Amino acid sequence: MSKLDYKSLYNQSIQDPAGFWGEAAKSLHWYTQPVKVLDDTRKPFYRWFSGGEINTCYNALDRHVEEGRGEQLALIYDSPVANIVKKYTYSELRDQVAKFAGALHSNGVAKGDRVIIYMPMVPEAVIAMLACARIGAIHSVVFGGFASKELATRINDAKPVMMISASCGLEGKKVVPYKPLLDEAIQLATHKPDKCIIFQRPQVQATMQEGRDLDWATLMLKSAAIDCVPVAATDPLYVLYTSGTTGIPKGVVRDNGGHAVALNWSMKHIYNVQPGDVFWAASDVGWVVGHSYIVYAPLIYGCTTVVYEGKPVGTPDPGAFWRVIAEHNVNVLFTAPTAFRAIKKEDPNAEYLKKYDMSNFRALFLAGERCDPDTLQWAQEILQKPVVDHWWQTETGWAIAANCLGIEAMPIKPGSPTKPVPGHAVCVLDETGQEIKGAGMGTIVIRLPLPPGCLPTLWNNDERFKSSYLDAHPGYYLTGDAGYIDEDGYLYIMSRIDDIINVAGHRLSTGSMEEVLASHPDVAECAVIGVSDQLKGELPLGMVVLKSGVSRSDKEIVDELVKMVRDKIGPVASFKVATVVKRLPKTRSGKILRGTMKKIADGQEYKMPATIDDPMILDEITESLEQLGYHARVVV
Ligand code: COA
Ligand code: AMP
Repeated sequence: MSKLDYKSLYNQSIQDPAGFWGEAAKSLHWYTQPVKVLDDTRKPFYRWFSGGEINTCYNALDRHVEEGRGEQLALIYDSPVANIVKKYTYSELRDQVAKFAGALHSNGVAKGDRVIIYMPMVPEAVIAMLACARIGAIHSVVFGGFASKELATRINDAKPVMMISASCGLEGKKVVPYKPLLDEAIQLATHKPDKCIIFQRPQVQATMQEGRDLDWATLMLKSAAIDCVPVAATDPLYVLYTSGTTGIPKGVVRDNGGHAVALNWSMKHIYNVQPGDVFWAASDVGWVVGHSYIVYAPLIYGCTTVVYEGKPVGTPDPGAFWRVIAEHNVNVLFTAPTAFRAIKKEDPNAEYLKKYDMSNFRALFLAGERCDPDTLQWAQEILQKPVVDHWWQTETGWAIAANCLGIEAMPIKPGSPTKPVPGHAVCVLDETGQEIKGAGMGTIVIRLPLPPGCLPTLWNNDERFKSSYLDAHPGYYLTGDAGYIDEDGYLYIMSRIDDIINVAGHRLSTGSMEEVLASHPDVAECAVIGVSDQLKGELPLGMVVLKSGVSRSDKEIVDELVKMVRDKIGPVASFKVATVVKRLPKTRSGKILRGTMKKIADGQEYKMPATIDDPMILDEITESLEQLGYHARVVV
């Protein structure tokens, strides 16, 4: 594709999506060329590359070995917590993956079967994902910070034949045994997987269940390597569960063809990297960023990827990121703004940075939450390199808006992820569903079809896909975010339109936390809101009304509630603060005024809602929040 300016490339992608992505698809290996690049026969369910056959693992590994990249590093595992650095060339990684694929196959995993991966940040997690892709099995990675109940919900929905896990995760200074969580999840689930493969780590020896559990190392000793199998471009590569508005997560489906094409294109055009460059996404394979930019995109494009098992601070110090960049010649880093806030808090003058050679480093990309201008400017100042905020979500799998450094670097406006990435027809709608032409605030949508790589549907649930994303505004995909486009075409993502909150770049549903609180025997009513936090962006805050006649102390109950959310959702929810209130503010029709309570907790001015049932309740809430240390403001 010839080099064009942003505007021409963007227009071309919107006016002729089939031509645009058909051209991009030529960079990949296909067993059978697609018959239809953009298949719109089942509108609004669009499919990309129908009739084509591909294998994502082949494109990520084998093809590079065959084209002479076998001796190049494919993966660098750097774990300051396990004190290990381990490197794999493309040939070595291909061989490990082919063997593990053999182990899966000989243990009954076939094309189309689901495999749940519940692993810490070790190379074996990446090997497991690619091995599934190799044999056409559909992986579903569950983040290690989720509790057994969340894992059980995913087991029941995905119905895996196999689970892959490890004996433990290393979380900062903590050792978290994973096997008891896995065993409990299987016990809670109504669907039972046939087998589990466990990767034993030296820190914890997991107890194995006879007849069900298999040891990773033993399997690898006796397994024979197997080849990639062709799958339909439209076949699912993986299912990744993400928070919805209820306690039941949504199983985002990713197909093989569209995903590989989009990610391969993104490496050059968004991140401006070349094959052979070192690309580091400091995230976790349990999140979409990990799927796309730790595993698939860097490998499909022929880069070296870094798997980092550590934190930005405390493992051992706020120079951790700079050490990894210098030691492994990282060219591009991708992480969440919260990581930079954590570094800034501990090392505001970036003293640690001075110790490291950053000469190979070219750009920083931030996503996962809104990037506050302060953090952006601090990162720019200390790094003296482009800092790019880009916006995307689990559903899209890659950036919807970015400053595409590989097309045309545009001036940065702090607070904006710049402009829509080619392929994404982003619009802002008003309450009546009309496109807002000026810089007005509204609901952000993407005109259909979505580009390749975005979700074609939800796992086994076309109906929920339609009702969650397509029904609100026919012809558009609802992103769930609200914001505006300014006079220069820059996009601003300001808030969610649902009850999703963003805690340290992790997407969580306050609805699911409310379900947990409501299950406490002493709780009559509850609400969870996301309040602003300087480090994590947002933190959940619970407010509960007790049933009449409860005589136990508030503290006792609050402690139990905090423990319940940790046990049922997981530590990742960071649910640590709750308070007992007499009543919750509601509208006359009974809707809890969560938005108003959030404004009070955040110290923002708010207008008395016209539909409020009893304005006095807001005074009580203000008082309770002030007792918790929030600087509540009065009504204007
Ligand atoms: N397994 C088990 N527990 C986990 C876990 C995992 N994989 N990941 C997180 N947890 C636990 C943490 O130990 C912590 O437990 P605690 O309440 O006992 O302290 C809790 O879940 C919350 O974790 P986290 O939100 O990560 O907070 P933190 O205080 O440990 O670290 C940051 C804060 C900002 C340093 C960290 O969130 C970070 O590096 N974030 C940026 C990168 C990123 O993850 N981005 C994701 C999307 S791109
Ligand atoms: P997730 O699906 O976990 O990636 O979360 C996606 C959500 O995080 C988006 O819908 C936004 O609400 C938020 N988000 C991600 N990246 C950005 C960004 N760059 N700016 C603003 N919000 C973001």
